[in-house]
Order: sequence, then C-alpha cells, then structure tokens
Amino acid sequence: MIPYKTIIEINRDSKQPVYIQLTNQFIDLIKERTIPPQTKLPGTRTLSGLVGLHRKTVIACYEELEMQGWIVSVPKKGTFVRKDIPILQQQTWDDKTVPRTGNKIGFAFKSNPALDRKPPQDSVDGYMYVNDGVSDERLTPVKELSITYRKIANKKHTLKYLNYGTTYGSPELRETLMCYLNETRGLNITKDNILITRGSQMGMFLTAQLLVEDGDYIIVGETNYSSSDATFEFAGAKLLRVKVDELGLDTHHIEKLCKTYKVKAVYTTPHHHHPTTVTLSAKRRMHLLNLAKKHHFAILEDDYDYDFHYNHAPILPLASHDTCGNVIYVGSICKTVAPVFRVGYLIAPKAFVDECAKLRRYVDRQGDAILEMTFSNFIKDGSLDRHIKKAVKIYKARRDLFCELLKEELSDYLSFEIPKGGMALWVRLNKKYSWNTVKDVAKQQKLIISEWQYYDAANTKHNAIRMGFSRYNEAEAREFVSRFKKTMRIVDEQGGA
Ligand SMILES: Cc1ncc(COP(=O)(O)O)c(C=O)c1O
Repeated sequence: MIPYKTIIEINRDSKQPVYIQLTNQFIDLIKERTIPPQTKLPGTRTLSGLVGLHRKTVIACYEELEMQGWIVSVPKKGTFVRKDIPILQQQTWDDKTVPRTGNKIGFAFKSNPALDRKPPQDSVDGYMYVNDGVSDERLTPVKELSITYRKIANKKHTLKYLNYGTTYGSPELRETLMCYLNETRGLNITKDNILITRGSQMGMFLTAQLLVEDGDYIIVGETNYSSSDATFEFAGAKLLRVKVDELGLDTHHIEKLCKTYKVKAVYTTPHHHHPTTVTLSAKRRMHLLNLAKKHHFAILEDDYDYDFHYNHAPILPLASHDTCGNVIYVGSICKTVAPVFRVGYLIAPKAFVDECAKLRRYVDRQGDAILEMTFSNFIKDGSLDRHIKKAVKIYKARRDLFCELLKEELSDYLSFEIPKGGMALWVRLNKKYSWNTVKDVAKQQKLIISEWQYYDAANTKHNAIRMGFSRYNEAEAREFVSRFKKTMRIVDEQGGA
C-alpha cells in the first residue's frame, strides 16, 4: 500500500485550491512511477480519511485526473492509473535536489554571436544611469493617451478591431501619418507607402531580412548605432565601415567603396548621426542620393529623433528628396512620446512595403490596433505637436544646463561639442583615462555606465560615449555631475588610467 498519508502534503496557506494541490501531487507520483500504471487507487472515502481531506475534494481531484487522462474509472471495479502513461526518465519522488525545470536543456537551437549583448538591467532606486538619450517618462502625456484609448476601446464600432486584422497596421493611422509626414517632413507618399511597425527597430529588422543575402555588403558608419550593426549581421551581411566626421558619414568614402564592392544598402541616421550626434551636410545628402541612384543600393534612413532639434527647424529627411525610390525611411513615436508605446512606421516604395507586410505576419501577426488608433487621434487633434513643443523647450534647457555643468565641473576630464539636437551628448574622455576603470569607480558612487563598449565597434579608440541629458531635471543633472566629479577625483587618487 502506498503511504499516501506520509507523501501527500497540503499547504493550507497556499493560494492554490486544495484539490489542485492534491491533483498535482498525484500527477507527480504517477509520472515518477511511485504509483505504477494500472494501480488501483483507494476509494474516495478511504483516501479522504487517509489524508484528512473532505471527500468532495478527493472526488474533484479524481475527476480532474480522469479529465487529464491520468486515471480511468471502471464502473463497479474502481479507479485505476491508466496503463498507457508515457515513460519519463525515472526520478525518485524525494529527490528535491534535481530541478524539474530550469537550466537543463533537452534540445538544440541556433545561437548567433551577432546578437550577443548584455540584456538591459532593471534600474535600482538611488542609482543614476548614463543613458543613450531617452525621453523623460515624467513628461509622457499618459492621462491624455489613456482617455483617448478608453474612448476608442469603448466605441461599438471598435469591436471589429479586437479581431485579427491587417498586417499593414491601422488604416486610420496610415491615413493620418500620410498627411502628417507629407506636411511635416516634405514626403510625397500615399497610404500604400506606409507599414505601421512596433517601432523603428522592427522596420530595420524587416528591411535587413528582405534586403540581405548571405555575404551582401552593407555600409555603416565607423561609429554606428550598434543595434543596426547586429540587425544586419544577423541577416548575414558583411559590414563596410566608412569614416564619420563633423559633416556626418563621409560620402566620398562610400563612393570609393562602391568601386570595389557591390553595395546592397547604406544605413544612416542623417538627422543626428548615432552616436556622434552630427548632422549630415546638405551636400553629402545629395551626394549619397546620387550614389544610391547610380549604384542601385538602398538607403535605410533611421530618423530616430527627428522631432528634437534646438537651434533651427528640423532638417528634412533624405526620403523627402528621393525621386528614384532608393530610400527606406523608418521612424517612431517611441523616442518622441515614450519607448513603451511600440508604434512606428516604415516608408518605402509600395512593392517593398507589401513584402514587409507579408514578412511581418510571421514575426508579429499584427500591431495593437487600438493603440494605433489612439495615436492616430493624438496626431490629428494636434496633441502630438503640442507634446513635442513642450518637450523640445524642456530638453533644450536641459541640454544647455547639462553642457554648462560638464564644462564647469568636468572639463579636465571630458570634452564634447554642444549637440544641435537629439537627447544625448557625444562625450570624449581624456585619453589618460579609460571607461573601463571609470565605470568601476562610478558604480561605487551609484552611477552606472553600462553601454560604453558598444560605441566603438570599429576599435578606433575614440574613448567617447553617449551621455543622455533629456531625462534629468536640474537637481538630477547637478547630482549626476557631482557623482561623476567624485568618481574622477577617486580615479585620480588611485593613480588614473
Ligand atoms: C538610432 C536608433 N535607431 C532606432 C532605435 C530604436 O527605436 P524604436 O524604439 O523606435 O524601435 C533607437 C533606440 O534607441 C536608436 O537609438
């Protein structure tokens, strides 16, 4: 007789119903062969007496086990463990050291070094983080957006959007974006040129997957947005790196490379080059477009921070001058409003948009139709423009203060140009010091510098990183600079380097 009384343990404090606890323990005992196939189980009255549970609980447990196919009840004979229970590897029921799930892996899978990157960490209270340039979540118009979202979700005609829909994204948002982007960015597109994505990153991923065949050449900056490097390398591309100076990507270098290599695409962030923040000059813009036309390559224009320009109006994208269908333009509201709202767009010739829409289906069946309609309203009623106006004013003041503080307090250690836009500075550390040492000391000051390795993929030893300023109000900026200053003093006391 199996010692049910000793092996069944019920936790009365658990939130799990007692009959489920009992069922799960029976399943384990059956799987482990502690109760072998075809064993007759005690009657419900007997078992309830043995384990001290109400008979109804035992009945519910037996019904659940029978429904799941572990036991079978034979009229007038009793309840039996089924004889066709699959054989699992033996494990003694009292072996608590063997994890049931966890790190053991029972299958092979592909892993690609292009994707190797430390996953982002959760932020810890009291710590400050050197970031790449992100919006201040406290400025996000959450209330306004949630009122619109609720209103739309409650409308009767919205019901149809709760079902599976188009992979192109909300027709309303496509229509709204068509007008908005034509008006604000000088584009000349129709709805057919727009695919709604979950953010710029999805646009880049779809583009890379559809453009690149193994070994194709993609041109990127010598310094470049590291996730785009990874996206292209994951698709099988070989990267060719071109110089970046104070006028942006060196298009003469691109021209030279085109003489040797069959270039498939050039990835660029012309508004503010990522990471150095410089704007691609007008002359180079035209040169790049002419090269694309001549050599039949695509330009993937990532306009990640179009809305944030402080010295003059934003510069129109390359896409607005593209007459030959070379530019694939990606953007999003993730930087403008908040990264959590995964709404972006890919703008390209219709045939390419159609192909992207087909591929997207197999990555992410569709977007969040209600959220997309919410943003459609948010753009149409002028709320997005109002939000941008407010944020630009605040971020400009933050940029000015941050630059002033760094100059005053840290000019012995750091140098930078004041960026004309965006949300970050490109800060060079005096060559005497290394970020590797600085980041260790900074951590003791509760200042985390985590991304420094990703800014120099070409190993040019520029010793620079991006330092986001937009997320810090005045008090926070002062605290940030003070922690940095303390860090550098300690580094000096310890002998520098
Ligand atoms: C240059 C650049 N491109 C694209 C992205 C991704 O943006 P999204 O959140 O719209 O996917 C980022 C995000 O940090 C970025 O810095």
